[in-house]
Amino acid sequence: MKLFVDTADLGEIEALVPLGIIDGVTTNPSLLAKVGNDPRGVLKRICELVKGPVSAEVVETDCDGMVREGRELAAIDSHIVVKVPFGKAGVQACHVLANEGVRVNVTLIFSASQALLAAKVGAAFVSPFVGRLDDIGTPGMDLIRTIVEIFENFEFSTEVLVASTRGPMHIIESARLGADVCTCPPKVIDALFNHPLTDIGLERFLADWAKAQQVVG
Ligand code: E4P
Repeated sequence: MKLFVDTADLGEIEALVPLGIIDGVTTNPSLLAKVGNDPRGVLKRICELVKGPVSAEVVETDCDGMVREGRELAAIDSHIVVKVPFGKAGVQACHVLANEGVRVNVTLIFSASQALLAAKVGAAFVSPFVGRLDDIGTPGMDLIRTIVEIFENFEFSTEVLVASTRGPMHIIESARLGADVCTCPPKVIDALFNHPLTDIGLERFLADWAKAQQVVG
């Protein structure tokens, strides 16, 4: 399963890339607004750092506007994946852009029917938001199971990109269900590393080693 980082913060990305575990980046208008700088310059720099798929979302709301903006975003770098929000305009824009060879991530997916429609028009990725579903008392991971099953039935090449992840269990469950990608905020990626027994174990190994050195010395 591929791991993307869900941030537009260059410092966070620079810290994670050397670990070798990051396959791509997802951004959205909220994340780009948070970092403040020129969004297109930030996206270009992210592409240089990661050299994997980097999702950049359109903010136009009609099909023609989304297609125009999508083309502009795709021209920033070959790693850009144009993100369009689900809806009739987004689906139609995905259809046009995908036919031109632009990779599209259809975002704000909250139902299997939405994912199916996005796959039918050639989306490279669909982004179901598991955390936001959990927030309203609907199990987000049930949606991932259903989408994975549907895509397998018809051998869609569209990748299931699990978004709005809130903790390690979203990532583990996504891997068990066969999702293609999980995108995680940096703090969720940090949490994937942690286990108290690893810390205790290392402390003990080092203490035993230090004791043995005293005996030798
Ligand atoms: C990524 O593509 C999504 O925009 C992001 O995961 C949404 O996460 P949130 O629900 O925590 O805002």
